[in-house]
Amino acid sequence: MGVLEGQVALITGGNSGIGLAAAKLFAAEGAQVVITGRRQRTVEEAAEQIGFGALGLTGDVGDSAHHDALAHEIARRFGALDIYMANAGVNIIKNSADVSEADYDDQFATNARGVFFGVQRMLPVMRDGGRIVLTGSIASDKILDGHAVYAASKAAIGAFARTWALELKARGIRVNVLSPGPVNTEILAKMGIPAEAQPAFEKMMADAIPLGRMGYPDELARAALFLASDASSFITGINLRVDGGMTLL
Ligand SMILES: NC(=O)c1ccc[n+]([C@@H]2O[C@H](COP(=O)([O-])OP(=O)(O)OC[C@H]3O[C@@H](n4cnc5c(N)ncnc54)[C@H](OP(=O)(O)O)[C@@H]3O)[C@@H](O)[C@H]2O)c1
Repeated sequence: MGVLEGQVALITGGNSGIGLAAAKLFAAEGAQVVITGRRQRTVEEAAEQIGFGALGLTGDVGDSAHHDALAHEIARRFGALDIYMANAGVNIIKNSADVSEADYDDQFATNARGVFFGVQRMLPVMRDGGRIVLTGSIASDKILDGHAVYAASKAAIGAFARTWALELKARGIRVNVLSPGPVNTEILAKMGIPAEAQPAFEKMMADAIPLGRMGYPDELARAALFLASDASSFITGINLRVDGGMTLL
C-alpha cells in the first residue's frame, strides 16, 4: 500500500520537469493526482503518462479565476484536497538593467501571486491535516547572475510559507518550501540555453555543486513526497534545499 493511498493531490506545473516527476511518484504511492499547466496538449500527454486515473486541467496560475475553477472541480469530483504542490514557475534570466516591466510582472504573476492566490482559493476545499508544498529555489538564498527578480519572487514564497505554517496550525495543515538547486528540466531551454549549449552548462553547474552534478527531477520528487506525506509529520515552515550542497559555496 502506497504512503498516499486514498489522498487527493493537486500539482501545478505537473506537465513537465519536477512537477511531472512528483505527479508520477505521488500517483504510484496511491494518490489521486490532478495536474495543471497552460499547454493543453502537454497536460493531456502528461496525465496519460502518469496513469492511475490522473486528471489534467489547463489554466494559468496567474489568473485567480483558474484557481476558483480548480477548487470547484476538485470538490465536485473528489470531495476535498489533501496535498497542494504549488510548483508552476518561470525564470527569465537578465541583468537588472535589461529587465522589462513585463519580465518583472510575468515572474511575480506566476511565482508569487499564483502561489498566494492558489493557496488562498484551495484552502476551503483542503481537508484539515492537509499538506502544502511550495516549490521555491535556492536562488532566493544564493546570489546568481541575472536572477534578481526571479530570486525575489521565490523569496516571497518563503515568507508565505512561514506565515501560513502559523496561520494554518489550528487546522493541522503543514506548509513547507522545497528549494531545488539546478535540475535538468525543460526550464533550461526556456531560460534560453539551447540544446547544443547544455553540456557546457551542465559542466559549469557540476563545478559549482559539491556533489558534482545537476539534480534529477526524481530526486526532487522524492523530497516533495517526504514533505507531502506523514514521513515529515513534525515538520512545518521549513525550506528544504535539494541542491547537492550548492548553497554552501
Ligand atoms: N529546474 C531547475 O533548475 C529549478 C531550480 C530551482 C527552482 N525550480 C523551480 O521548480 C519549479 C518547476 O520547474 P521545472 O524545472 O520543472 O521547469 P519546467 O519543466 O519548465 O516546468 C515548469 C512548469 O510550470 C508550468 N507553468 C509555468 N508558468 C505557468 C503559469 N503561468 N500557469 C500555469 N502553469 C505554468 C509549466 O507548464 P506550461 O508551460 O504548460 O504552463 C511547466 O509545467 C518551478 O517553480 C521552478 O522555478 C527549478
